[in-house]
Amino acid sequence: MTQRIGVFPGSFDPVHNGHVDLIERARRLFDVLYIAVLYNEQKQALFSVEERIDLLRDLVGDSGECRVESFSGLLVDYARERNATAVVRGLRSGADFDYELPMTLMNRRLAPGIDTIFLLPAPEWIYLSSRLTKEVGSLDGNLSGVVPPVVLEALRRKLG
Ligand code: PNS
Repeated sequence: MTQRIGVFPGSFDPVHNGHVDLIERARRLFDVLYIAVLYNEQKQALFSVEERIDLLRDLVGDSGECRVESFSGLLVDYARERNATAVVRGLRSGADFDYELPMTLMNRRLAPGIDTIFLLPAPEWIYLSSRLTKEVGSLDGNLSGVVPPVVLEALRRKLG
């Protein structure tokens, strides 16, 4: 039987509860889900790619059905290499849709066999973003219940 393979790409700097919610939803849709952390030297990040991968593996494991990897270059090339038929992205708002639409259409043009699937996180995570968690964390705000405990600890270590 053909396996349903999906890719959930992102920066995950750091992973937060909205990501975890989306990963759980996406796992139910695929036999194998690759969580793909973008390796981008040009983009300033708080956590290294290795640290981001470690945090994700801590949270969702790294098994046959759910694998955490890094990728660089074009997302569709990576998805093709993994024999994926779909890319999963989260949508929280119309602003997200405006950001996603051009990428989705370009990806479709580059790889017509790979579709993008949009998933909504649970309503309690609609406002969450990695940028916000870093900002609140850097100002010593309380992030418990917003990011998983292992990420809370990593943010505390990183931000002092
Ligand atoms: O979590 P993010 O930062 O919103 O994720 C963005 C990501 C990684 C999905 C996007 O930047 C991406 O796909 N980058 C890979 C390079 C690429 O394929 N660019 C062309 C997109 S049309």
